[in-house]
Amino acid sequence: MKTVVLAYSGGLDTSVCIPLLKERYNYDRVITVVADVGQPASEIDDATKRAKTLADEHYTLDLKNEFVDGYLFPSIKANGLYEGYVLGTALARPLIAKKIVEVAESVNADALAHGCTGKGNDQLRFEVVFRATDLDVVAPMRDMNLTREWEIDYALDRGIPVPVSREKIWSVDENLWSRSIEGGELEDPYVIPPEEIYEWTTTPAEAPDPEIVKLTFENGVPISLNGTAMDGVSLIAKLNRIGGAHGIGRSDNIEDRVLGLKAREIYEHPAATILLSAHRDLESLVLTRGELRFKAMVDAAWAELAYMGLVDDPLYADLSAFINETQKRVAGDVKLRLYKGSATVVARRSDFALYSEELVSFGESSINQKDSEGFSKYHGFQARLVQKTMK
Ligand code: ARG
Repeated sequence: MKTVVLAYSGGLDTSVCIPLLKERYNYDRVITVVADVGQPASEIDDATKRAKTLADEHYTLDLKNEFVDGYLFPSIKANGLYEGYVLGTALARPLIAKKIVEVAESVNADALAHGCTGKGNDQLRFEVVFRATDLDVVAPMRDMNLTREWEIDYALDRGIPVPVSREKIWSVDENLWSRSIEGGELEDPYVIPPEEIYEWTTTPAEAPDPEIVKLTFENGVPISLNGTAMDGVSLIAKLNRIGGAHGIGRSDNIEDRVLGLKAREIYEHPAATILLSAHRDLESLVLTRGELRFKAMVDAAWAELAYMGLVDDPLYADLSAFINETQKRVAGDVKLRLYKGSATVVARRSDFALYSEELVSFGESSINQKDSEGFSKYHGFQARLVQKTMK
């Protein structure tokens, strides 16, 4: 009796994987796992129902809290952005992969499977976790080089109830942090995206009057919205709704995938845009110039590892340790104005602020301006020496 555990989304690719794992790969038992990382409830329900009709055994796991605490909050602390991408899909994959491994170990499975293609990043993010075990790894989509047409025919033939269209339509991946839309006509980077691809965000031009939101941070992460304390999952979900109504957080990026392929990726991420803007602003108030400059390099290295799914690399832990140390003072309130697609920080305060109104103002202060005279004499000193040697 050979058992395989499959990361299941409910979509065409992973649905087709279930019979394929039996027919072509000779597994006797296919166990599916749906990971709830904040997709719409209807999507989770549909996937769960479909899995129960197709698989031998099924698990739907609510991973939302773990996703926020273990991946999204660390990403806020790291100002997590890869080429302008807020990393939603990238951050979810390691968590999903780890849960698949846990299920596989608990049922004594022989293999782990995913439905990723051979062109994207997700195969790498899944397998870097899968291959840390001694289990076999199966990737039918990649292995069989399947086309969408073939999959649709095969699904119809096997009576798999998948809502599919033969028109080339975009592929969507969404979770609490971002919704990504790629493929179909969007593959031409010179095509202006039609409004209908967007589901989380209002067309910015049609968004309502401005609205101010207040976020409170502690240890670098948001703890309350408009004065109401909230757990991370609720706060992000609520901010997605508020920001989405103002058309905030759309992006259209040319992205360098890990393999080197350039891809055109469109995203919606209202909460991420608001939280990352607020966090970065608060850091500028409380961290020293040296910390800010150095942390920007650490953040970039962190985001690159997160994008590649290398969260078990020792460097990821090293960088995270530095980032966490800096976040102890990242506490305070930030107000943003949401208006027609933009989220602008308009006010901030912190008990750890290094900013001093008294010192910087032009009025009477404890700074004796004459003290700066000596400093000024040596500013640019070496450049003047060079100029002299050239005369
Ligand atoms: N480019 C992003 C990433 O690699 C998102 C991919 C999402 N997949 C999709 N079918 N829309 O993380």
